[in-house]
Order: sequence, then structure tokens, then C-alpha cells
Amino acid sequence: MQLNRAIRWFVIAMLALQNALVMAADPLPETTTLRTLAEMRDIQIGASVDEDALRSDADYAALLGKTFDSLTPENSMKFDALHPGPFRYAFAGGDAVVDFAERHNMQVHGHVLVWHEQLPKWLTSGHWSQAQLRELLREYIFRVVGHYRGRVKTWDVVSEVIDDDGGMRQTFWSQGIGSDYVALAFQWAHEADPDAVLLYNDYGGEGGGRKSDAIFRLLQGLVAQGVPVSGVGLQMHTSVADAPEASAVGANMARLNGLGLKVYITEMDVMIPLPVTSAKLEAQAGIYRSMLRTCLAAENCRHFTLWGFTDRYSWIPSFFPGNGAALIFDKQLQPKPSYRALMDVLSVANTGIH
Ligand code: G3I
Repeated sequence: MQLNRAIRWFVIAMLALQNALVMAADPLPETTTLRTLAEMRDIQIGASVDEDALRSDADYAALLGKTFDSLTPENSMKFDALHPGPFRYAFAGGDAVVDFAERHNMQVHGHVLVWHEQLPKWLTSGHWSQAQLRELLREYIFRVVGHYRGRVKTWDVVSEVIDDDGGMRQTFWSQGIGSDYVALAFQWAHEADPDAVLLYNDYGGEGGGRKSDAIFRLLQGLVAQGVPVSGVGLQMHTSVADAPEASAVGANMARLNGLGLKVYITEMDVMIPLPVTSAKLEAQAGIYRSMLRTCLAAENCRHFTLWGFTDRYSWIPSFFPGNGAALIFDKQLQPKPSYRALMDVLSVANTGIH
């Protein structure tokens, strides 16, 4: 155990040294950001956006627009936000996000058409026949995808259908419509916007294991049925205490490529069990570095999105008490070792040194 720990710290020390050498060898011009390097490397680098912060925190908004070329609305395009009443749609929140993105020449990743969380009470407390619920979902997808057609070009169509032990999650949608709701959702989204990239999005299946295999089998079936699914979103919500093995993630990306599917990293964050220490920050940087390298090395991964980008606004502390500091900028919006690790990977990738 001691030897493993020593090897681990030696590797971290070597990576830190490489980091210093790369940065010293050719310090990047001040104006270089993740976004400028990513665009040179033909990979999209994104972040989810906290809509309240976007409205109220100008420094946050400026850093978002400067650092990323893609954004994902954290909550404003979910069912409860967009369809708050049986006869009411509310697009203003989502529209504000898209307006910001267009002003900053950023792509928007639509999140999320069909999910079992954040559903409005009027929907979940209704007594719907299977046919009524199917028509309600079809109408919702056509209305939302139609509203954003041409402005939102990629969508998380369905999220988190596989539960944590690899079975089919029993949800409001699966119980109300039946298990074919997944294929139907993709079909309707494709009919509403034939040009959109349509993803299945899930967590906990990034590397190997039972859940990853179940996700692969689900996608294998959808592809075999001719369902218009373009790719898989690997959420990558992870922790310094237990990150997926890069080799297993690479192998998973490769087998999804075998199905003809793109892979997106859709929601990466790397939580730290508090208190934060410099060793934990270096370990966190190593995980960000390793996952971006794995994406770049895969033929079918050219989208790398974080779930938030600054510790000032993150879902982690309230959902995982005792954990935090999961992102690449600190609460003062200053870059952390993780930011520099991502810059290193993209700089090295740009110079072709492997
Ligand atoms: O909008 C209401 C507000 O009116 C109310 O005053 C406030 C207090 O109750 O709640 C607000 O809603 C909150 C919402 O975020 C918007 O801030 C919900 O309570 C809260 O549960 C919700 O949390 C979101 C969570 O999904 C819900 O499960 C997080 O912000 C969001 O980061 C998180 O994101 C999900 C992805 O969409 C899917 N993948 C997993 C990821 C983490 O759960």
C-alpha cells in the first residue's frame, strides 16, 4: 500500500514538473484561454451555466464568455422551467442563455428533454393514460426543439435511464409510457430538428462495470432499431477519492465508437473531500488532465463540458455535504491547478508533443 502511495505521489510530482517545464518553455500569451487553445485543437470546451449568476454576477459572465466556446443551461431548459403549467410554456430563461451564447459566439447544448427529475407537479400529479402521456411528451419535445431549432444544435434527449445497479430505472416516464419512451423521444426530437445531434446522457458509466455495460447494451439496441441517436453523454461527476481509470474510459469510448456513436463529456466535476489541501488540488488536476487527454485520444470525443466552472457556484456542496471545490476556478474566480492542467493538455496537443 505504501509503495502504491509513493508511486502515486511520484507520478503527481512528475506531472507537476512537466507542467512547469511546458509552461516555462513557451509561456502562452495572456490572451490565450482554454477556448482559444481548444478551437485550435478542434475540440469544444464547455461549461454549464448557473442562470441566476449569469444575471447577477458580471465577473462570472465575463469569465464564462472568455473561457468556453460552449455552454449548457444548468436548469432553465428542464421540463419544470420550460413547461410550468399544463397550458403554459416559459422560454424566457432558456432564451436568455441562448442570447448570451450567441453574443459570445458560443454553442448551446440543450439540457434535458426527458429526465425523471425536475418535473412539475401538474405533470406528476396528473392521472394520464398511456396514450395521453405519450401525446403530452411528443407535443413537449416538438414544442421545445422547434422553439430552439437552429440555435441549439445538440440535445441531451434522454438522461439517466439506467439505475445504479445496471437495471432500467423505474421512472414517471417508464411507468407512464412504457420502456419504448426512450426510442420515441429520440424519434420525436429528430423529426422536430433533423439536423440536431441527439445524445443519451448518464452518470456512473464512464469507465467499465455493470452500469457502463448496461448503457452500452441500451445504445446497442437503439442503434440496431435504427433509432436516430447520435451519441452518448458521459457526465463524469467524479471525486479525487474515486475517479474512473483513464484506460477503462478510453476502452468504453472505443466500443461506443464501434456503434458509430459520438461521445461527449457532458458534466465533469471532481469533488474534493474537505478540507482542501494542495495535494488534493494536484490530484484533482491530474484527473482533469487525464480525462481531457483520454477524450482527445479517442476518435469520437470532441466535446468536453464541465458542470459549472467556478467553486463560487456549484451543486456539489449542497448535494454532497463535506465535499466541494470541484471545479477549475476558485471562489474568487482565480484559476486552480486544474485549469492549468487543462491548458497544458491543450497546449501540448497543439504542439503535437505526445
Ligand atoms: O428554482 C427553485 C427556486 O424557485 C426555489 O426557491 C429553490 C429552493 O427550493 O429551488 C430552486 O430549484 C432548484 C434548482 O436546482 C434550480 O436552482 C432545486 O431545488 C434544486 O434541486 C435544483 O438542483 C439541480 C439538480 O440537478 C436537480 O437534481 C442542480 O442545480 C443541477 O446542477 C443538477 O444538475 C444535474 C443535471 O441536470 C443532470 N445530471 C446530474 C446533475 C446533478 O444532479
